[in-house]
Amino acid sequence: MTRGPAVIVAMLVALLAGCRVTPPTATVADATRAQVELAQLQDGRALMVRKCGNCHAPPMPKDHTASEWPTKLDEMAKRANLDGEQRFLIQQYLVVMTQR
Ligand code: HEC
Repeated sequence: MTRGPAVIVAMLVALLAGCRVTPPTATVADATRAQVELAQLQDGRALMVRKCGNCHAPPMPKDHTASEWPTKLDEMAKRANLDGEQRFLIQQYLVVMTQR
């Protein structure tokens, strides 16, 4: 009797978790490897989730290669109304995180 709701909650949690993995969080190791500020990578990720997650799920860095991302950004920066700084940070995050 009392197990019913718990099983349903567990199933919902599993379903939501399985839907989409969230974009990876940048670490000190990523920043050191790419020789950029960790805060910039973290800002880039936060902006990406906020600005690029409205029309579709925010992309994962490994969806494209480091050399493909700038072209994707050319197109999507307009759709997301990014200013130059926002575009820079998002692109840097995506490119750096493809190199993991
Ligand atoms: C106003 C809605 C909108 C926003 C905001 C948006 N996108 Fe998209 N995006 C789309 C649509 C629609 C498609 C699929 C159709 C297409 O490719 O034109 C798409 C497709 C994509 C694709 C796959 C395209 C391919 O060629 O593989 C990527 C990658 C992408 N978006 C990245 C981003 C990024 C990064 C941002 C944030 C800077 C972003 N999008 C913001 C609407 C949006």
